[in-house]
Amino acid sequence: MAEARDYGPDELLHRRMSHVRYAARSDDFFAWVVSHVPWQGDEVVLDVGCGAGLYFPYLRSARRVVALDPSARMLASARSRTFPGVSLVQARGEALPFPEGTFDVVFANHVLFFLQDVRRGIAEAHRVLRAGGIFVATTYTEGSFQATYSLHRRALHRVGRVAPPPPHASFSLEKGVALVEDFFPHVEVDRYDDAFLFPTVEAGMAHYRSYAFDRVVGPPLTPPEREQVLEAVRRSIARAVQRHGVWRVDKSSGVIVARS
Ligand SMILES: C[S@@+](CC[C@H](N)C(=O)[O-])C[C@H]1O[C@@H](n2cnc3c(N)ncnc32)[C@H](O)[C@@H]1O
Repeated sequence: MAEARDYGPDELLHRRMSHVRYAARSDDFFAWVVSHVPWQGDEVVLDVGCGAGLYFPYLRSARRVVALDPSARMLASARSRTFPGVSLVQARGEALPFPEGTFDVVFANHVLFFLQDVRRGIAEAHRVLRAGGIFVATTYTEGSFQATYSLHRRALHRVGRVAPPPPHASFSLEKGVALVEDFFPHVEVDRYDDAFLFPTVEAGMAHYRSYAFDRVVGPPLTPPEREQVLEAVRRSIARAVQRHGVWRVDKSSGVIVARS
């Protein structure tokens, strides 16, 4: 499923900063993900949907890293994080331009829900992995961002508009396990429970604008609709902050680890 708007490296880095600043947990999610691979030090790794290359610093023990993304802007940003042994390829997860059995490890982190055809993306990861290779896919749980999307749905309803399903719906942790099991014989899942704790209305609104505001079925919101929606959401976040000291948004994720 594609994002409705331009989701570029600036947005990705902005979101990353908000994870660092407002997450309930302070341990390193990326290090936790990568620790699911029993590294030997000679792995050839594929990073599907590498984005701005935020995983690169965690892959230094690999022999070689091929990082792939369809977005030229993401790859330009990723370039600044490369080190010798990392190469960048512009391509899509549904059509990996590599022969079968090329890689020891394939990562697809918070990316499979962007694919038009998720099953094809998983089949491609399976095809390019060597026998016994490891597939690692991270994603959000079904309950993630319910607080954000339910405020959004209610606010849109007031102006007679409808929100699409959450962007991660096609490959949530729960759905993803079953999809990956269709291709891989050994699949394990590990949850990473976490939440955003927004201490101010401004912080909550910045999150809402980044994750939900422009997600609407049909034409974009008109200026008066935008005002009404923002005002309704602002009031709800303000109530939560007043009552609880923070606006809490569950953002639990997890990792699916499969062996071919
Ligand atoms: C949320 S970012 C994740 C980036 C990185 N994996 C991380 O965790 O920091 C999703 C990335 O998937 C890329 N993407 C979108 N559609 C894709 C596709 N069909 N195949 C591969 N990557 C895709 C986007 O360009 C974006 O860089």
